[in-house]
Amino acid sequence: MTDLTPDFSGQMAVVTGGTRGIGRAITEAFAETGADVVPTSRTEDDVVEAVEAVQERGCESLVVPTDVSDQEAVEKLFAQVKNEFGRIDIVVNNAGINPRGALGRPETIDVDEFDRTVDVNLRGAFACAREAGAALQKSGGSLINIASVGGVVGIPRQHPYVASKHGLVGLTKSLALDWAPDVRVNAVAPGYVTTDLTDGIRENEDLYQRLLDQTPMKRFADPDEVAAPVVFLASEMASYVTGECLVVDGGWIAE
Ligand SMILES: NC(=O)c1ccc[n+]([C@@H]2O[C@H](COP(=O)([O-])OP(=O)(O)OC[C@H]3O[C@@H](n4cnc5c(N)ncnc54)[C@H](OP(=O)(O)O)[C@@H]3O)[C@@H](O)[C@H]2O)c1
Repeated sequence: MTDLTPDFSGQMAVVTGGTRGIGRAITEAFAETGADVVPTSRTEDDVVEAVEAVQERGCESLVVPTDVSDQEAVEKLFAQVKNEFGRIDIVVNNAGINPRGALGRPETIDVDEFDRTVDVNLRGAFACAREAGAALQKSGGSLINIASVGGVVGIPRQHPYVASKHGLVGLTKSLALDWAPDVRVNAVAPGYVTTDLTDGIRENEDLYQRLLDQTPMKRFADPDEVAAPVVFLASEMASYVTGECLVVDGGWIAE
């Protein structure tokens, strides 16, 4: 029978953007269930703090600040991880941005902001998948991309973000095809989650209330509520799930 208790002891996970918000919750969830975790982002102090949170749970970690849009930095990250741990079982492509300059009607969007969004959210995820691919195939591991409801439906005035997240869902499916049966590749598509990324929304009372009204669950998610489905997808419980995009949105797109 399938093991219904996630236990990642002896496994090794890399979580991009693993220092804050959803990524930090994912980092702690994998450490809680026994995995060694390397949480990374651009900000060294935050990386050190997240690494300490892993070590406090008795798991191994490594401080490697990394910008996922920098190909050379991504190559160095995975080379260092492979060198230190000798294996990679789980990669979570969570690092993502939705900059102010990339919001608005299409004719007002600065194309450089479009590129920057795609470079982090999509190209960065591909770069990490590419560098981890051989190790994941060797370990029979799992790759999880953090997409968004904006990867499944259109959202007005968020064109670069929506394009990048639709791309990420497509990438999830094509990687799943190429790497089956060795590596399962899935996406999680959160709706609105209480993190720094949605600070601007929550500060705008009218907008915040409108979004709560549109959400059947009548609240934003806690980051832990996104981390739990990620753990599920990486676990034996999801052993026949690949190429899937699991929407975690409190019913938002069901309306
Ligand atoms: N919050 C939501 O409502 C929501 C909804 C749907 C999907 N998502 C997705 O969930 C993921 C996490 O979002 P969040 O809300 O937790 O965001 P957040 O609180 O802003 O955290 C983003 C994380 O990504 C890191 N990051 C940003 N740019 C990076 C880069 N170029 N290279 C490496 N790391 C980078 C940040 O650290 P540094 O800035 O120090 O690099 C931080 O650790 C994103 O992919 C986002 O699109 C969020």
